[in-house]
Amino acid sequence: MNLEITSFKDYKRIYDYSIAEPEKFWEGIADTYYWRKKWHTVLEWNFKDPSIKWFQGAKLNITENCLDRHLEKEGDRTAIIWEPNDPEEHYRKLTYKELHFKVCQFANALKNNGTKKGDCICIYMPMVPELAIAVLACARIGAVHSVVFGGFSAQSIADRINDAQCSLVITADGGFRGNKDIPLKNVIDDALVQCHSVQKVIVLTRNRTPVSMIKGRDVWWEDEIKKVETQGNPACLAEEMDAEDELFILYTSGSTGKPKGVVHTCGGYMVYVGYTFKTVFQYQPDEVFFCTADIGWITGHSYIVYGPLSQGATTLLFEGIPTWPDAGRFWDIVEKHQANILYTAPTAIRSLMSFGDEPLKGKNLSSLKKLGSVGEPINEEAWHWFDEKIGKKNCPVVDTWWQTETSGIMISPIARITPTKPGYATLPLPGIQPCLVDENGKEIEGNGVSGNLCIKFPWPGIIRTTYGDHERCRTAYFATYENMYFTGDGCLRDEDGYYRITGRVDDVINVSGHRIGTAEVENAINMHADVIESAVVGYPHDIKGQGIYAYVILGSSIHAHDLTRKNILQTVSRIIGAIAKPDKIQFVSGLPKTRSGKIMRRILRKIAEGETSNLGDTSTLLDPNVVEEIKSGSLFS
Ligand code: WT7
Repeated sequence: MNLEITSFKDYKRIYDYSIAEPEKFWEGIADTYYWRKKWHTVLEWNFKDPSIKWFQGAKLNITENCLDRHLEKEGDRTAIIWEPNDPEEHYRKLTYKELHFKVCQFANALKNNGTKKGDCICIYMPMVPELAIAVLACARIGAVHSVVFGGFSAQSIADRINDAQCSLVITADGGFRGNKDIPLKNVIDDALVQCHSVQKVIVLTRNRTPVSMIKGRDVWWEDEIKKVETQGNPACLAEEMDAEDELFILYTSGSTGKPKGVVHTCGGYMVYVGYTFKTVFQYQPDEVFFCTADIGWITGHSYIVYGPLSQGATTLLFEGIPTWPDAGRFWDIVEKHQANILYTAPTAIRSLMSFGDEPLKGKNLSSLKKLGSVGEPINEEAWHWFDEKIGKKNCPVVDTWWQTETSGIMISPIARITPTKPGYATLPLPGIQPCLVDENGKEIEGNGVSGNLCIKFPWPGIIRTTYGDHERCRTAYFATYENMYFTGDGCLRDEDGYYRITGRVDDVINVSGHRIGTAEVENAINMHADVIESAVVGYPHDIKGQGIYAYVILGSSIHAHDLTRKNILQTVSRIIGAIAKPDKIQFVSGLPKTRSGKIMRRILRKIAEGETSNLGDTSTLLDPNVVEEIKSGSLFS
């Protein structure tokens, strides 16, 4: 069966085949990779435990697919283009040969520092090529990486390091983001006070901010590379991995408790991200792919590093932010590096939209051929702006729906092949079987219906476990509905069978495309000495998609003034990171609760949305007066 999709008719034919013969379909995709040894069993699974095993018996190393296999014919092709935060600083380009060399070199440095297959390594770095090199070097030697986004606090890093018992940390002295200096090593030092598993810290020089290097623990990246050079730069042979060996852990927020460590494994992850990259973006050789995400999130893992490199693509890595030095930065980068595909987030689009047409004046965007969106529902206004002002109505816009747990894109148009519809992620990729279910777990068939989005059959990139707590993986994703993976999203399927994701149906807020659990933010707020209790909900936010709205009860002697508000924000920054700071804090004397003491978030959500008249059923409220008080003090009234 030819799996190439060149028309919408092909898509339908291949989709049908992928559902009728899933194992044959995925085997066909997997055959396009380099395996040291092939599998004896394509798939073995049950969603009850869950236990999902792809390509059992197969041996591989993902870096041989991302690097070595391109060397002979495409070794001089650019693998990474790096655009620094400051446009005045020189950009860098690394060919596949150079990237391969640097990955091997740093992999040897990791080995010299005691790292072995199976060890877990925490990476906390700015968006520089060395971040991609660090990630790939871990994969090269079979170490499991856990990348933590540079915006998380020391406490969040410590929690993640301790959860996975990381033995080594890779960081930098600091980083640049817009006009800010980020003191990464200082944050790591604060974190490590609580972490006893960490033996070594490797520190890259980036912003030359003063740092304290602890004897016996901290070493410089540059010195470790020199040591490898004096050892004669031995090649670093890739460690042979089982398809189901762990590749990485990436933490993500859920509706309860601390973030979960989502585990992905070598074979399935590789097959899935390479396949989706090539299919969705219809990547052609020599195209420059510009994904604006941070490698600290799944989008960066899958579509800056592994997906593009596995396909021999040129990937553009940008250190800075869209609005610095001005709101024309993305367009300058597109023009400077002749980017052909731009993959970004609705929040960035809306933010740039708010600056009007001025930042677009004089920018040549004619290199662009395809556009992509990810992370949250894209409103029609933003979709059209992207299509018209950036794509000049000449570039297909692919609205890609997926999650940290899915590894890669699940529901999305295929560029130039699937007819698009603003606001719609459209149709499932071949191999993906979505379905909608009602509250009772009954599948809702037919079109023109909505329900909770589930997936009925495994795909190679599906989450395998949550690190150290398999039961949590089961209850979070596989226990809500029998025999299905539950996404946590609500969804509509229209008359054409097109999917439109409407947002989370659990207690997770999607702020600028990043998931934040309401419980997590509440726990952080409650740490503040003056706080008795709090309740956090999401509300519609013009730029961020959703903002964080916190209702807070203070201790009796405390006056609700501006300083208290700032102190609470400071506490949240300390405990989680600045990304989780509430946009609005309303001080209240009580929270709406049921007789059994459960907070009625539905009511709080309505008030946060600015709705004060129609609050739905309030008959189970313990004290209706509380609601009246909250309404009258509402930040929207
Ligand atoms: C949640 C996953 C996917 C990588 C970045 C975020 C929301 C994601 C879309 C989209 C509507 C979307 C969902 C999903 N989401 N893409 N195209 N349309 N909603 O990964 O942090 O794991 O978040 O983001 O709610 O469940 P994540």
